Amino acid sequence: MPGSNRYEQVQAELRGSPRSWCVTGVAGFIGSHLLEKLLALGQTVVGLDNFATGHPHNLDDVRQCVGEEAWARFTFIEGDIRELDDCRAAVNGVRHVLHQAAMGSVPRSLEDPITTNQANIDGFLNMLVAARDEGVKSFTYAASSSTYGDSTELPKVEERIGKPLSPYAVTKYVNELYADVFQRCYGFDTVGLRYFNVFGPRQDPDGAYAAVIPKWIGKMLKGEPVYINGDGETSRDFTYIDNAVQANLLAATAEGEALNRVYNVACGERTTLNELFEALAKGIEQAMGWAVPKAQYRDFRAGDVRHSLADVSSASERIAYVPDQAVDTGLQEVVEWFVKHGGVGEPI
Ligand SMILES: NC(=O)c1ccc[n+]([C@@H]2O[C@H](COP(=O)([O-])OP(=O)(O)OC[C@H]3O[C@@H](n4cnc5c(N)ncnc54)[C@H](O)[C@@H]3O)[C@@H](O)[C@H]2O)c1
Repeated sequence: MPGSNRYEQVQAELRGSPRSWCVTGVAGFIGSHLLEKLLALGQTVVGLDNFATGHPHNLDDVRQCVGEEAWARFTFIEGDIRELDDCRAAVNGVRHVLHQAAMGSVPRSLEDPITTNQANIDGFLNMLVAARDEGVKSFTYAASSSTYGDSTELPKVEERIGKPLSPYAVTKYVNELYADVFQRCYGFDTVGLRYFNVFGPRQDPDGAYAAVIPKWIGKMLKGEPVYINGDGETSRDFTYIDNAVQANLLAATAEGEALNRVYNVACGERTTLNELFEALAKGIEQAMGWAVPKAQYRDFRAGDVRHSLADVSSASERIAYVPDQAVDTGLQEVVEWFVKHGGVGEPI
């Protein structure tokens, strides 16, 4: 079945026969988009978050987007994946788990590997145990392109990874190892999604560990200088959020041979930081009518990989993933969203 058709079909099936879901990290960037999509499809959702890096205003924004009737199908648990009881409460009676909660950011993990480890490994294991004990039907989790580590091969193919370049990358790789062992030892099925630089509305523009796209847009909107780490020829496979949401729904409803694998979730396009700067500056200039100052260059950042580009054919073949939201249109949408929200991401 052609890819886009399967996504259409999955959405139609979910609308016709709503299910119960648990989304961890629901107040974060990706989690809030999963929540929005699921509520829009008529699903019932339990969300778990401790607001470590997520924000109540992300939930407020979802509420505004979906309306009160849909919002009534959402239950929020303010809790911590490092606590097994919180995980058990979150998965109680649910059919599908989309596990997104983690401490993201390579630099944060270099500064504070212990906190990253506790959330990303202890928390992950708690969620696996809770979901296994509850007998949930599917467990989809956020893996990461950082698992490719020092491998220089391009494009990245799931089977071939290098050595991790940061504590964060170790934690995300350990997630994959635990998922694999849970299948072998307990027959518990999972699907891991190795996200490649996901971006979109509600991604946090503030703080030392902000991702490049919201950080640069935030700085450009404040008229502050943008710093490029290195020569700007570092490249990434930037992935618009709608593609990541699609991958989650396809993975959660996958069966048979498609299970117990990890999939690259990306666009399959390579964009350098210099190209990214130009595209964002152009978007801001068009929206605001003033010129963005030239980028300033500084040293390369520790732990960063030089190039990243995904081969998405495994996800296309096995779960019918079709990254139909291109980088350029995604960048336009995200610039417009931040302009509308005053560059801070809070609801208007
Ligand atoms: N955004 C990307 O490009 C990207 C790339 C690769 C992997 N990922 C992974 O995707 C997932 C979601 O990332 P995101 O970009 O939405 O980040 P985010 O920081 O916006 O969301 C993470 C959410 O998890 C919550 N959280 C953190 N620790 C927690 C804990 N102990 N208990 C409960 N909740 C906790 C945070 O409060 C936050 O709301 C993460 O697992 C991240 O590692 C993201």
